[in-house]
Amino acid sequence: MSKRKILVTSALPYANGPIHLGHLVEYIQTDIWARFQRLRGHTCYYVCADDAHGTPIMLRAQQEGIEPQELIDKSSVEHQADFAGFNIAFDNYHSTHSDENRQFSEAIYLAAKEGGHITQKVIKQSYDPEANMFLPDRFIKGECPKCHTADQYGDNCDHCGATYATTDVINPYSVITGATPIEKDSEHYFFKLNDFDAFLKEWIDSGSVQTEIANKMKEWLEDGLSDWDISRDAPYWGFKIPGTENKYFYVWLDAPIGYLASFKNYCDKNDLNFDEFWKAESTTEVHHFIGKDIAYFHTLFWPAVLKSAGYRLPTAVHCHGFLKVNGLKMSKSRGTFIQARVFLNHLPPEPLRYYYAAKLSNNIDDIDLNLEDFQLRINSDLIGKVINIASRTASFISKRFDGKLSVELPDTALYQQFIDISDSIADAYETRRYSKAMREIMALADQANQYIHENQPWVLIKDDATKDQVQGICTQGVNMFRALMVYLKPVLPELAEKSELFLNAGKLNWDSVATPLLNTEINKFKPLMTRIEKDNIEAMLDENKQVLEALQASQTSNAPTNSPLNSDPISDTINYDDFAKIDLRVVKIIKAEHVKGADKLLQLTLDLGGETRNVFAGIKSAYDPANLEGKMTVMVANLAPRKMRFGISEGMVLAAGPGGENLFVLNPDKGALAGMRVK
Ligand code: MSP
Ligand code: ZN
Repeated sequence: MSKRKILVTSALPYANGPIHLGHLVEYIQTDIWARFQRLRGHTCYYVCADDAHGTPIMLRAQQEGIEPQELIDKSSVEHQADFAGFNIAFDNYHSTHSDENRQFSEAIYLAAKEGGHITQKVIKQSYDPEANMFLPDRFIKGECPKCHTADQYGDNCDHCGATYATTDVINPYSVITGATPIEKDSEHYFFKLNDFDAFLKEWIDSGSVQTEIANKMKEWLEDGLSDWDISRDAPYWGFKIPGTENKYFYVWLDAPIGYLASFKNYCDKNDLNFDEFWKAESTTEVHHFIGKDIAYFHTLFWPAVLKSAGYRLPTAVHCHGFLKVNGLKMSKSRGTFIQARVFLNHLPPEPLRYYYAAKLSNNIDDIDLNLEDFQLRINSDLIGKVINIASRTASFISKRFDGKLSVELPDTALYQQFIDISDSIADAYETRRYSKAMREIMALADQANQYIHENQPWVLIKDDATKDQVQGICTQGVNMFRALMVYLKPVLPELAEKSELFLNAGKLNWDSVATPLLNTEINKFKPLMTRIEKDNIEAMLDENKQVLEALQASQTSNAPTNSPLNSDPISDTINYDDFAKIDLRVVKIIKAEHVKGADKLLQLTLDLGGETRNVFAGIKSAYDPANLEGKMTVMVANLAPRKMRFGISEGMVLAAGPGGENLFVLNPDKGALAGMRVK
């Protein structure tokens, strides 16, 4: 087998949001592939970076009152910690806001320009006259021209699904300031994608993309390729276009160039030859892993940009589908937008790696994370089948045979089957049909368990006449387990490492299977993984819900003061008599408790100066009940009692704020007594 030199990338995650389980489909898929290649003895580098430019990042930083640099620094640290938490082993993690990326972006642009592939045109665009900036589609909202639902995005309606031009939106407003956008002329720079029409048509059939993607590309090419706008007006967070005063590269120009930049950064630190991978006639391999939503950028723009500047083309662009949770699109309101960090707070990482592997194939179908199925699958496959083989056999070796494995295997024919399937499993990994690989591995695990079940070492050990056979049977078991660990090592590196310690014979690689471990001493077996309990999953979902609510609330409350995002508009006026009808009272919270089964409510017992009231208040997201007891607040005392699922609520306490963590129970000044009327 000749040694390959491979560079692998995953798409660069945006620096303005946390890593979630959807992202992880991709990073886990790529990491498994890179680890597989290394396990086979190939040289494989896996690089990535944060995608740190663009309007959303600029505005997010503004909202938080920090510089973009601070935002992207923070995000980079968080992203890398999340990836490390899932055992994703990048060789390098860089940023698109880096010197290397600036240099490559400028050089590539200048080469494209030199080649005549850049053109300038004046275009009309929506402009926010208060923020003094041009507005991307997503920053304009208004009434849907089709179904008239309010507050829809400038390019499509969430309610009826219609897509339309921003200019058709009724009563449009800028999300940044609330101002009505105007139309304004601006000169933009375009990449002449159509210059590469013939080249792309040829590239489609080079075997670099999956069939589904090739078909999609053919459609795009038939529709005709338009010039691609690669510039944005100031203010913009990105790289200035050389030779201009106030034009910046659109984030999607410099983002894929970030692959080169991250690898260059790695080469410089490790004295490697960058050109060996990127010069036009390179014999090394470059593989990009991406989600299907960004195929257009990677299979049309990116090859054309590389071509225009004289670089090599990717060996392959591997596209995957989207993650669904319990059969539905991940959603913030359903709480299924599960953050990587929250998952790690309650569950170990490797089960998710295995679960994704068991679902992933080489097509672009979506994959479903069903949390119940996840729990069952892990407990049955990993704990019940794989680890069980070691735990049922290793303890006899340790306790009864001084840790010593037998000198030969009693059933070499069975073990030979574990060797023979090696190529088939390798082929499944190589072609990203991980679910097939996992099926084959679990079929082996079934065979191993059946062997142990039939041979019953726990019975044989009790009889002097047969107890010596147990060493061989258990050696057979340990070796079958070891072979499974080799095959699972790309997916479960942590479990494999623990197994290597227990097997006490160095690092496992793909060829280890061919030579069984005999006549050596193994270490005492320790439990390798724990079962997944329903409680862990529920606690994880609970925390995630809270995190999402808090996030939403903080994003709302950080919006600029004149933003429509922030406003509960002042209500119409009422007369004094209307106001006087409301009997507001100072009360003391004498008891505050959680309500079983309610995720927003706390149950409060209020003292009105003699009388007590039971009130359910939707403030759980912001308050720990213990911190409320003894506090004074204000309640509406003459609100008609309301029957709720948890009991009768006899009034309402007053709190301000958008919700989530940002809810503030009102407090009277010191000295006010329970029962006093508020006037
Ligand atoms: N910044 C761009 C990529 C630039 S690459 C030069 C971007 N970032 S992203 O954070 O939105 O997504 C990063 C990767 O994660 C993309 O490949 C995207 O398809 C993938 N996923 C994001 N959400 C996903 C799911 N819900 N499911 C599966 N993959 C998903 O796009
Ligand atoms: Zn609509």
